[in-house]
Amino acid sequence: MYRSHTCGELRSTQINDTVTLSGWVQKSRDKGFMIWVDLRDRYGITQLIFDEERTPATVFQKAKELGREFVIQVTGTVIERESKNKNIPTGAIEILVTDLEILNKAKLPPFTIEDETDGGDDLRMKYRYLDIRRNPVKNSLMFRHKVAMKVRNYLSEEGFIEVETPYLIKSTPEGARDFVVPSRMNEGQFYALPQSPQTFKQLLMVGGMDKYFQIVKCFRDEDLRADRQPEFTQIDCEMAFVEQEDILNIFEGLTRFLLKEIKDVSVEAFPRMTYDEAMKRYGNDKPDIRFGMEFGELNEVTKHKDFKIFNEAELVVGIAVPGAAAYTRKEIDALIDWVKRPQIGALGMVYAKYNEDGSFKSSVDKFYDEEDLKKWAEATGAKPGDLICVLSGNTNKVRSQLSALRMELAERLGLRNPDEFAPLWVVDFPLLEWDEETERFHAMHHPFTSPKKADIPLLETDPGAVRANAYDLVLNGNEIGGGSIRIFDKDLQALMFKHLGFTEEEARSQFGFLMNAFEYGAPPHGGIAFGFDRLVAILGGQETIRDFIAFPKNNAGRDVMIDAPAKIDDEQLRELHIKLDQ
Ligand code: AMO
Repeated sequence: MYRSHTCGELRSTQINDTVTLSGWVQKSRDKGFMIWVDLRDRYGITQLIFDEERTPATVFQKAKELGREFVIQVTGTVIERESKNKNIPTGAIEILVTDLEILNKAKLPPFTIEDETDGGDDLRMKYRYLDIRRNPVKNSLMFRHKVAMKVRNYLSEEGFIEVETPYLIKSTPEGARDFVVPSRMNEGQFYALPQSPQTFKQLLMVGGMDKYFQIVKCFRDEDLRADRQPEFTQIDCEMAFVEQEDILNIFEGLTRFLLKEIKDVSVEAFPRMTYDEAMKRYGNDKPDIRFGMEFGELNEVTKHKDFKIFNEAELVVGIAVPGAAAYTRKEIDALIDWVKRPQIGALGMVYAKYNEDGSFKSSVDKFYDEEDLKKWAEATGAKPGDLICVLSGNTNKVRSQLSALRMELAERLGLRNPDEFAPLWVVDFPLLEWDEETERFHAMHHPFTSPKKADIPLLETDPGAVRANAYDLVLNGNEIGGGSIRIFDKDLQALMFKHLGFTEEEARSQFGFLMNAFEYGAPPHGGIAFGFDRLVAILGGQETIRDFIAFPKNNAGRDVMIDAPAKIDDEQLRELHIKLDQ
């Protein structure tokens, strides 16, 4: 028996008990005649004491050899601790050790295994197994487990069945690139790893499963960001005989349940906003609504003056930054530089200070008088003391630039409180989006998303204006889920493929299996997938999903611990029928 108790378990009620503990040496303090060791495992830390007088001499000698992260087993008596440590649950006791076994020695770890470590990102990724010993990482993984359990329980209670779907499949068109796997047995052919189980869950609906879910790995070969990993996890769900309203209600229920159970936060009915409205008010389809700074469009009130830049702009739009009228010239210049960075790409920024005394001072005083600026204040909701920041140009570009500025300023002003949760449904997404590169329409969500019935005729005349039965769940400015009501009629699906530029043949060869299935009685169906890593991170008060993944990839998509991706040897290549250009 390696242990009778864990290192987080013992209290003063166990004083005088003989116990056996196993764990890692967190630290050891040798005072010559007395040695204290902090013994750590997943459950906590217990202090051990080796006393020259009371501990057998051989054991005492062995204790002197202990180094950080040695794995040991000790037996001893629980005694009351003289100087109690109120910061840890086991702080009232210590173990007077009578027996010590060194189960394994350890090399000195390359960084300290403490909550605040001296190890940089790269080092910690390389030795992720050591990083996992640290409380912040360990707690994040345990938190992830807790959320997964709650999700499984909730959905099972609601009658959902978890079904596994294959990983070696044919490409699913979710908009990113596929990771592919060469087939040894089928020369020149490749599997694709699923970007999501989308087509399979639809086939499960044809199969009559009715309510499906799966906590499932998905793979997308796309550029990485703080909220993106090449392999990530979804809570993937699908239901038959449902309309959009049913899906929104069920998954609002799940989200509300999680917020209550995990964060003890009660949220009333989630607000809903159309995509168009979100773009107009926040310049973004995943607005953070924990704070204001809503967009005020200024075309009307800036026209007919001599300011050419605004007169020629498709959109002139501003936000009122609370309390920022007091910014110095230097601070404002820094903001202007910030929006001009290539990542944001604005050409410049006009500003107007709405001073506390009600007067205005703007960077375009030459063109606009106080009466004009009052109108700017009205349109942006600025109050005395605020700074109005205005960008202009192409509508889509300007919206995205001002939205980035809005988020940056909210961050700086401390308006993005991680303990506050503001969920939002964004609905009525466009069905199609124009792709400049390929000069054709792409499905904004995926090609199986149904258009709104009333908009179907527009498919022929104005495809860009067709709205979809598609929705996203947004939490604190992050897209944590997305889904749609699907097309279940084979003719409408064929029409969609046509509009997406697939020939009949291409559609057949890529999606024949789905179109065939639709000939055998497909029920009306729809679903949603949550980004599980994102959901967990946000519930955990963070936006970087890496910390909530046991073995994440770095920004270059590499696992620096196992050193993947890596070359494979010639023999393996030959078997896979792959020839590399040398
Ligand atoms: P979608 O592509 O919107 O929908 O993905 C669903 C959710 O998955 C999360 N997500 C990611 N998380 C981490 N890293 C990534 N690279 C990544 N990509 C996406 C997001 C997103 O909201 N099959 C559809 C769902 C459906 O229609 O039912 C789908 O996959 O939080």
